[in-house]
Amino acid sequence: MAETELLIRAAELSDIPSIMELEQGSIAHPWTKSALEDLIKDPNKICCVGESDGKVVCYAGVETVLDEGNVGNIVTHKEYRGRGFAKALFTKLIEDMTAKGIEKLFLEVESDDVPALSLYGKLGFERYGLRRGYYGQGRDAVLMLKNL
Ligand SMILES: CC(C)(COP(=O)(O)OP(=O)(O)OC[C@H]1O[C@@H](n2cnc3c(N)ncnc32)[C@H](O)[C@@H]1OP(=O)(O)O)[C@@H](O)C(=O)NCCC(=O)NCCS
Repeated sequence: MAETELLIRAAELSDIPSIMELEQGSIAHPWTKSALEDLIKDPNKICCVGESDGKVVCYAGVETVLDEGNVGNIVTHKEYRGRGFAKALFTKLIEDMTAKGIEKLFLEVESDDVPALSLYGKLGFERYGLRRGYYGQGRDAVLMLKNL
């Protein structure tokens, strides 16, 4: 399937059940319903979803403060991975953040999450640190930054 078959749009409150379903089993610390409501409603936060086959198959959220953004979760449905969807969604998020005047984008990623590390590397993020035990004992976070 080509990237063009993904429809990317701003998340709406009615997408929350689909987003929560996507997170189940894919994210160690899924966002709560109220955190997702806040992410969608707050003008200082950006949440995008991607639709394919008429359903939400990926989503990503970013919180912004002044000219900095912090990436929260990004998830692609297990059956839709490896088709360029996360890359397309994130590229759109970066465009939206650039338009909002965001200049630096930060994120943390678990040090053994090879797909996510590779995705972020491809998108131009660079490692600037390591936070030991961030996700629990023996589970470290790689700190990454991209200048927009
Ligand atoms: C990380 C994740 C979002 C990638 O989604 P995806 O839609 O499959 O990613 P894409 O198809 O857009 O791939 C983009 C790049 O990511 C990397 N990537 C994706 N899957 C990969 C895999 N299984 N192994 C290695 N690299 C991978 C590659 O660099 C790829 O670029 P390429 O296609 O040019 O090689 C997905 O694996 C996921 O939902 N994982 C569980 C949740 C998670 O860990 N999220 C990140 C932290 S919150």
